[in-house]
Amino acid sequence: MYTHEGAGWHIRAFERHDGQACMSIFMACLRKFPWRGTPRPYVARLIRAIPNARIWVAEEPAAGIIGFITLQPGEAYVDHLFVHQDWRFCGVGRGLLEVARENAGKPLTLDVDTQNFGARKAYESLGWRVAASAGDGNGRGQIRLVSP
Ligand SMILES: CC(C)(COP(=O)(O)OP(=O)(O)OC[C@H]1O[C@@H](n2cnc3c(N)ncnc32)[C@H](O)[C@@H]1OP(=O)(O)O)[C@@H](O)C(=O)NCCC(=O)NCCS
Repeated sequence: MYTHEGAGWHIRAFERHDGQACMSIFMACLRKFPWRGTPRPYVARLIRAIPNARIWVAEEPAAGIIGFITLQPGEAYVDHLFVHQDWRFCGVGRGLLEVARENAGKPLTLDVDTQNFGARKAYESLGWRVAASAGDGNGRGQIRLVSP
């Protein structure tokens, strides 16, 4: 479906047995989002999303699952995009977004936390633009972004 020959990973559709690996990447990422507080509601949201969402995973033969993306059913909205910390800056996020964009057939949207500067920079590098922002006046909130 999408292979990065140099780095050795590829992207494929999610299979049920990938759930635990995706959850573990997700939990590790959430620990780096102190502004979000308890992970419980976000974990519950991912568990609810899995049965119906369109999901793709990036997999490397030795490391296993190194990232995943979920698209809301019937929508071009990205609910989750998470790449294992050891595999960042390798094009995995770009690849997952490209596969989702192609599948959606139209520009993607997502909401990024205002405080998530790393992700905001990544989307900026990828040519995403701001569609709207909803802050609380104290630099907290989310920004709606649209892909090329
Ligand atoms: C955001 C995230 C998905 C990016 O994934 P990634 O695989 O590292 O991204 P890529 O390697 O495909 O990089 C794509 C572009 O963004 C840039 N980029 C990625 N992370 C960046 C960062 N933290 N700071 C600055 N630029 C960054 C890359 O340099 C690249 O740009 P280039 O092609 O011009 O060099 C990843 O950092 C992540 O999982 N973060 C934690 C979870 C998260 O915040 N998810 C998003 C929720 S909305």
